[in-house]
Amino acid sequence: MSKPFEPKIVAFVCTYCTYAGADLAGTSRLKYPPNIRMVRLPCTGRISPMFILKALQKGADGVLVSGCHPGDCHFTHGNYHARRRWTVFRALLNFTGIPLERIRFSWISAAEGVKFAELISSLTEDIRKLGPFEQYKAMIHETEAPVSL
Ligand code: FES
Repeated sequence: MSKPFEPKIVAFVCTYCTYAGADLAGTSRLKYPPNIRMVRLPCTGRISPMFILKALQKGADGVLVSGCHPGDCHFTHGNYHARRRWTVFRALLNFTGIPLERIRFSWISAAEGVKFAELISSLTEDIRKLGPFEQYKAMIHETEAPVSL
């Protein structure tokens, strides 16, 4: 008998806010699904759309990008750069064949452990409903054009 599908979700988070929010969720003993593989970066301004493509190419079924709220970035403008980059990348998603529902962008502060746990729960449930993401991996395999960072 095969196991039910459990999505793999890669979360690119900034260390000052969302990572601290995740830490708060953990220390508060809030429950959320264990489907997240967290990649901690200094700021969302460092997150390239290529990271998202690479994660999906390497087997992720969904991706989360999350950092400090606008105005709270520890590097002043990093999250504004990330938001602009996300706006452009979102417009290109149709071209790449990646459904928008597989990628989520959010702001979570260090004080928002509950929000973090709720977001992970809802994202995991949404990706579970979508099922495994094989199309993009198959596409990459066909063209043999791996994404490099
Ligand atoms: Fe958190 Fe810039 S330091 S988004």
